[in-house]
Amino acid sequence: MPTTAVDHDQTVNPLTNYVAVRVNTLRSIDTVAADLFVQYEPQSAPMLYCRAGSRPDVQQFVELEEAGVENLYVRSAEFCNFSNGLLESLESILRNETIPATEKFAAMQLAVAVAMDHTLRLVDCGKFRDLAEQMGQEVVTLLSDGEVLPRELFQIARHDFNTFTHVTNVASYSVMLAERLGITDKKELRKIASAAILHDLGKRFIPASILAKPGRLTPEEREIIEAHPQRGYEELCDQSDLNFGQLMMVYQHHERVDGTGYPVRVPHREIHPWARMLAVVDVFDSMTAKRPYRRSATPESVMDYQKQLAGTHFDREVVECWVSAMNKT
Ligand SMILES: [Fe+2]
Repeated sequence: MPTTAVDHDQTVNPLTNYVAVRVNTLRSIDTVAADLFVQYEPQSAPMLYCRAGSRPDVQQFVELEEAGVENLYVRSAEFCNFSNGLLESLESILRNETIPATEKFAAMQLAVAVAMDHTLRLVDCGKFRDLAEQMGQEVVTLLSDGEVLPRELFQIARHDFNTFTHVTNVASYSVMLAERLGITDKKELRKIASAAILHDLGKRFIPASILAKPGRLTPEEREIIEAHPQRGYEELCDQSDLNFGQLMMVYQHHERVDGTGYPVRVPHREIHPWARMLAVVDVFDSMTAKRPYRRSATPESVMDYQKQLAGTHFDREVVECWVSAMNKT
């Protein structure tokens, strides 16, 4: 469950128990199912702006814009209500032609947050798979055809590294990258997007204490972490209609082209092209995300890092394509 979309500094952050919501997202919904708060100064406590059951009126939107306020906040404790409420309006937001694709993406990220979180915890992952397929379709509808640049998406995407944030970012980047690498068939792109959403499914078996551990992992903990591609793959193999490329995205996204990755250490030629794409955008999104124990890296520094590892860790052509796509403004 998300806590906040803002920096976690050593000093007490007044927004620690709040989730940021773009003002533009609020424009597209009729009723907000949570109290909304505003923060005018970076270190000040958020103030109640609008009660649950209503939403800012036209005049308030003008004032917020004039004051340069881009985000309002909901309490983390009420985020479930907010996200579920937004999910009910999602269909109409996505079909509204006056809303830009980037804003639709921002609304979708928040709307699917709780649904994803809940379905991921179910013993049977079928519901999560259905959701991944639906979201994969929406991602392709919103982002294929090159109308949105990866850099624009980066600017609007959340970087708080919750499951829902990470998978929706990675699915979106995967679609954009796949298109630039020449995959234009929509059906194929939808498969790539939904498998990207499923790629870390095996992590649901890893204790949260290990996943969130900031320091060095013990060899046993590392072994548990490194089993997640295999666990996810086995679960999806068992019962699904995923194609080979999709399964390989789940199974091979931590393999490295020099054969030093995991779980199998297969070399370049045996890593499926879709898994090579996913490896690049997965690391890009992980490193540009804020974590409780460290600040996020800039896209530039991550791309430099990925360029250095092109040919050993990552596929060279994929890195080059990703960097050139990200540099387009
Ligand atoms: Fe992973």
